[in-house]
Amino acid sequence: MPHSSTEPLVHVYDDLDALSAAAAEDVVQHLRTARPGAPFALALAGGSTPRALYRLLATTHAEAVPWSHVHVFWGDERFVPPDHPDSNYRMADEALLAHVPLPAGNVHRMPTTGTPAEAAARYEADLRAFFGSRAPSLDLTLLGLGDDGHTASLFPGTAALDVTDRWVTAGTAPSGAPSPDRLTLTFPLLNRSREVFFLAAGTGKHPPLRAILDDPASAATRYPAARIRATRAVHWFVDAAAYAG
Ligand code: 6PG
Repeated sequence: MPHSSTEPLVHVYDDLDALSAAAAEDVVQHLRTARPGAPFALALAGGSTPRALYRLLATTHAEAVPWSHVHVFWGDERFVPPDHPDSNYRMADEALLAHVPLPAGNVHRMPTTGTPAEAAARYEADLRAFFGSRAPSLDLTLLGLGDDGHTASLFPGTAALDVTDRWVTAGTAPSGAPSPDRLTLTFPLLNRSREVFFLAAGTGKHPPLRAILDDPASAATRYPAARIRATRAVHWFVDAAAYAG
């Protein structure tokens, strides 16, 4: 029976370290399919959960990956300079990018100058140049989950959720989140990803995760993460605290 691209595959681990180790193994398996002429498009998640995974890619697995054929994108970015403590680029650079031989042209940082709308348009042009005449499909997209069920910077009740004619848009994070101004990939591009790996750890993620796994249709009215699809498979890498509460 072929796997439906709508049923998520859930992998539960004791803790974040075990989750990160398992997810890193699977990420590397995908990255190793990168070939000359067939660059692998990896979209990184922001926030704090993925940091341990990125560190494993930069250490344990660094030699196993054909980095020159991997292109790195982001699912979202806080609209701050790349050296700002809240920058998703900075977190990935410190944990991974600074430690592996990725050519500079393979690192597609979301611009955070000008206005968010202008920067979103520039990033969309970068993505379109990368895909060229090929079908626009990220090979593997890593995503986090907010306690409010957001993913990337697709926050509940925001206009970014309704964008259908662009791949990148300016977004707004609720007060209390780092950097209110955001850039985010939109559902049209995210949902063309071949594979999506969600990474979620901690009891705070239990309510949205439980709702998304138990009743995705109703969860989709409240939690943006429930609206994420992939053309091959959506995987959830979660710890026991997020899974069982
Ligand atoms: C961001 C992220 C965001 C994140 C979730 C979970 O820019 O904040 O892209 O979507 O993945 O908020 O964040 P934690 O991993 O820190 O819990």
